[in-house]
Amino acid sequence: MADSIRRIMKIKFTFSGKLPKERNKTLVSITKEKDVLVYISASGQKIISLSVPEPEKMDRRKLILLARQVITSAKAGKIKKLVITFSDFVFSHLKMKPGEIAELLATNFEMANFEFVKYKTLPPEGWNLVEEIVMVGENSPEIKKGFLVGQVIGEEVNACRILSNTPGGDMTPKLLAEEARKAARGTKVRVRVLGRRDIQKLEMGGISGVARGSSEEPRFVILEYWGSGRKEKPIVLVGKGVTFDTGGLNLKPSKYISEGMHMDMSGGAAVIQSVVLAAKLGFRKNVVGLVPAVENMPSGSSYRPGDILRMMSGKTVEVGNTDAEGRIILADALTYAKRYKPKLVVDVATLTGAAEVALGQRASAILTRDEKLQKLFQELGEESGDYVWPLPLWDEYEEDIKGTTGDISNTGKTEYGGAINGAIFLYQFAKDYPWIHVDMAPRMTATEGEHLAKGAAGAPVRLLIKLLKKF
Ligand code: BES
Ligand code: ZN
Ligand code: ZN
Repeated sequence: MADSIRRIMKIKFTFSGKLPKERNKTLVSITKEKDVLVYISASGQKIISLSVPEPEKMDRRKLILLARQVITSAKAGKIKKLVITFSDFVFSHLKMKPGEIAELLATNFEMANFEFVKYKTLPPEGWNLVEEIVMVGENSPEIKKGFLVGQVIGEEVNACRILSNTPGGDMTPKLLAEEARKAARGTKVRVRVLGRRDIQKLEMGGISGVARGSSEEPRFVILEYWGSGRKEKPIVLVGKGVTFDTGGLNLKPSKYISEGMHMDMSGGAAVIQSVVLAAKLGFRKNVVGLVPAVENMPSGSSYRPGDILRMMSGKTVEVGNTDAEGRIILADALTYAKRYKPKLVVDVATLTGAAEVALGQRASAILTRDEKLQKLFQELGEESGDYVWPLPLWDEYEEDIKGTTGDISNTGKTEYGGAINGAIFLYQFAKDYPWIHVDMAPRMTATEGEHLAKGAAGAPVRLLIKLLKKF
């Protein structure tokens, strides 16, 4: 299903050296957005004019939004074929190379064009999507390559959004693993899927424990891309794959279950598509993706508050709250990551509502002990549009998750600092390699003013691919 949808979404980019002739134009409407004017030319073509009131104040963040606005304005005007002048997007003070601008444009055109139509009936007039963009003015090889690369990135971000938006009933751990296989088809990514027995054999007591309440069996998805030979140490990406989070026996209040808990596998989806993307872009890098996938359900066989789980690392975890399940399954994946002797491990998870309380919906929280990594992620965040912001992870916080009956507790001792408690818990399993945690709960869904369809935002695929390119 995802494949056919992806094909529908893809914009056809063509290039033309000539500018269309100036024609007499008549103003026909001023949309709700005051900077958007619609004209009709003498030959009956629609001309949409987006004004940039203060071009000297243009920055990368605004350029991203401008690119998306081009698409949303076209969609509002039911325009399927667009003619755009490349130089309109060149702001010299930004010091961006033409290829870089082209990449940014293509990615954000694709992202803004995306609609989650998988479950909708095709209307007689077709989907309201932009089908073709003609780029006028410049068509250097650098610009063309930028468009190609940018589009592939946009497509993978959208593929990630499809996985996240898919309802829980159609995105069980088993189905998520199948989607990983499908996504990797035709690429050099090797996918292995461990089932319940394998997970038990590996003594991943965290994953087994959380999965116990569901009739859906857990999966442990391993994606390997050896783009630079087996000798070089890989970067390991770990993604939370909770396909539905009810909270378990510590059941979430009704409103919180209904609001997006089928998207609790968004970190896993981002990891799957990022590894595949690295392969599609032919990176000469080694990348491994690990996605522990479970459904967190209340039932007669659920793990209980107070239970003690023996993790793959040998440490015991006291369950303070069955709703803090993400850190438990991720802990086993972080232990598994050790076997790769990774040069870096990044985990990505919709881990805590507290991260969203702290930052709002505009940035993911990052937590690490490595200041250089923190800085690098902030820079890559700015560059990619997947913004991140740091929270502290000091030694003192370890006190807050000490267990009473087990080695560590999966909850803090107070109601404060929830995002930090989650990260300091993960850190107990990630001390053997350079590591950074991305709590993407704030960026799980698109928010106001982003010119993106409601639902999954596809974070942080754009950031991860920049990381894989540069690290
Ligand atoms: N999946 C949730 C966190 C979440 C909330 C993600 C909202 C996206 C949007 C996570 O498993 C959870 O329930 N965390 C609890 C932890 C608490 C019980 C210690 C939380 O944040 O409240
Ligand atoms: Zn939870
Ligand atoms: Zn969760």
